[in-house]
Amino acid sequence: MKRIGVLTSGGDAPGMNAAVRAVTRKAIYHGLEVYGIYHGYQGLMEGDIKRLELGSVGDIIQRGGTTLFSARCPEFKTREGQLQGIEQLKKHGIDALVVIGGDGSYMGAKALTEHGFPCIGVPGTIDNDIPGTEFTIGFDTALNTVIDAIDKIRDTATSHERTYVIEVMGRNAGDIALWAGLSGGAETIMIPEEDHDIEDVVAKLKRGHERGKKHSIIVVAEGVGSGVEIGKKIEEMTSFDTRVTVLGHVQRGGSPTAADRVLASRLGAKAVELLLEGKGGRAVGIEKNELVDYDIIEALGRPHKIDDKMYQLSQELSI
Ligand code: F6P
Repeated sequence: MKRIGVLTSGGDAPGMNAAVRAVTRKAIYHGLEVYGIYHGYQGLMEGDIKRLELGSVGDIIQRGGTTLFSARCPEFKTREGQLQGIEQLKKHGIDALVVIGGDGSYMGAKALTEHGFPCIGVPGTIDNDIPGTEFTIGFDTALNTVIDAIDKIRDTATSHERTYVIEVMGRNAGDIALWAGLSGGAETIMIPEEDHDIEDVVAKLKRGHERGKKHSIIVVAEGVGSGVEIGKKIEEMTSFDTRVTVLGHVQRGGSPTAADRVLASRLGAKAVELLLEGKGGRAVGIEKNELVDYDIIEALGRPHKIDDKMYQLSQELSI
């Protein structure tokens, strides 16, 4: 192993830069050469590849987004696209690749691995929905952004005695909604992993109102459905003054938290360690604060699960 590549792919996540920095510096520390692949798998297919030196990753640990740029690339789902990518890697003399991204990016890394090209997957997505790790890079930062928004919205909810529905990202996973709802003190948290009956949501709101509670916060994961529609139904069924805020891409940006920077540094370095040990086709993660790694194909087969105990706790604390 002489030369490795690194790319970021899929939705950007705060902390991706810290991971790129860790991969680059750890590899150079151990005598490897590092090449950055720009614009994700699209850039890989097109040969958008440049050497990274120690200084190339200076002053990026604190920056959100990804300095390697990112893209969603449907063409890379095809065999032709994958082989074209491998051809570019070989042309640049790259022996192995570190892929930082979410589940779509892992699928690409899995495909390259199946074609015999060693890849390591590093979980980078705000959604926290990657199997084989308790936390993904970017989740903590997104969570803090959401909590900040909930706290601010709560000021208006209280002042105007309103009900607020706040729709958060997460694709098909409810982690952002659950953690933000719990830490933001939401009255109701709606996540795709659980069934929700709008009648129950309304009954709970009415019970609160009868107790004298004139404002409420409801956090809805985008995977449950449209927050706007849910807000409309709630207003119709309660006649409480209701507003909806869809937080959107504000959740993806911003300077990574210390927790995300540390996680990214640890996972990025672990990816390089595995390559130095001659291991490819692995996905790195963190469990009980220990670094772990799994066969990437096996990891992708595991379903992502919500923390049931945390959901139960959120129910008990929001009666
Ligand atoms: O995977 C990250 C994420 O922000 C999801 O939470 C969201 O569903 C999706 O990406 C949005 O994708 P795009 O930025 O391509 O609209």
